[in-house]
Amino acid sequence: MVQLLEVRELYLHYADRLGNVHAVDGVSFALEGRGQALGIVGESGSGKTSLALAIMRMLPDNVARFEGEVFLEGRESAHLPEAALRQEIRWRKIALVPQGAMNSFNPVLRVGEQVIEPLLVSGQADRRSARRRAEELLALVGLPGEVYDRFPHELSGGMKQRAMIASALIMSPALAILDEPTSALDVSVQAQITNLLKRLKQELRLSILFITHDIAVASDVCDCLAVMYAGELVEWGSAEQVLTTPAHPYTQKLLASVPRLRGPERPAFIPGAPPDLRQPPPGCRFHPRCAQATRRCQHEPPPIFQPRPGQRVRCWLPAAGANGYVACA
Ligand SMILES: Nc1ncnc2c1ncn2[C@@H]1O[C@H](COP(=O)(O)OP(=O)(O)OP(=O)(O)O)[C@@H](O)[C@H]1O
Ligand code: SF4
Ligand SMILES: [Mg+2]
Repeated sequence: MVQLLEVRELYLHYADRLGNVHAVDGVSFALEGRGQALGIVGESGSGKTSLALAIMRMLPDNVARFEGEVFLEGRESAHLPEAALRQEIRWRKIALVPQGAMNSFNPVLRVGEQVIEPLLVSGQADRRSARRRAEELLALVGLPGEVYDRFPHELSGGMKQRAMIASALIMSPALAILDEPTSALDVSVQAQITNLLKRLKQELRLSILFITHDIAVASDVCDCLAVMYAGELVEWGSAEQVLTTPAHPYTQKLLASVPRLRGPERPAFIPGAPPDLRQPPPGCRFHPRCAQATRRCQHEPPPIFQPRPGQRVRCWLPAAGANGYVACA
């Protein structure tokens, strides 16, 4: 079966005056079918937004290294000429709701005008049919049609985020990348947005790459989870595997840091700070913060192991002979 999205050995490094920032460093993963959500979870600065930008190939001027392959429904897009990418892929097959997007509405333009802009620019619709399509989408994301004629400051944060999602869907993409779509919202509005995303998965068979620092929110929406640390994926698998049998010490710490409503345990904080990505630690990048690190972890980058079918972990622990882990080809 052709995967909806396959990312192979993707690198995005930035040049800054103190060196090259290894924001995305050899990331590979796949998102199989329509209507599935994959959560990319990690601390601030782990490279999540950079990964989204690399997949969309929306790169800043100071790129030092951009390499790898991105396949959308089998078609490689990382090396397509920019014009073809714009005409065939970006927004049509894959759309991005950027981090903080709800604050990037133009304050002097009505919301609907901004939602229909990609349709008008691409010449796919005239103003009247674009408006009809936008009103359908506003209704789909739970907004009244009158929002079309409102200005952004007349909407609440949750309404703006819904309008942003409608705008991403205007060209009917198969895949939407949502970068921290719930971070700036209070908990009850967060739940409304996650419920909306679950509905869009079902009703439109929309596939979602859900980027967040909050593993609890990701677990509500996502079928699969990938944990990112210092520019690398360190663990991935079905949401159930990652949540109930996490194999990487960092995933275990992330889960232990989630506050619980029931039970006596207090949330545990992850010791130390994320590394400087200009000089990632040698060996395992998590070793300075890992309670289980050995001498080998300090010098040799760990390979990828498969604790159980579908689950992968980048860590030396399985090699110590635990539980019949299988090394990944
Ligand atoms: N254009 C740039 N030039 C130089 N460094 C950059 C640039 N953009 C991002 N970075 C650095 O790349 C690293 C990864 O940043 P990125 O924004 O991808 O992380 P993130 O996981 O999305 O973080 P957050 O959760 O805070 O949004 C960080 O160290 C960041 O400072
Ligand atoms: S490879 Fe070593 S340092 Fe890294 S997470 Fe595993 S045990 Fe910890
Ligand atoms: Mg980010």
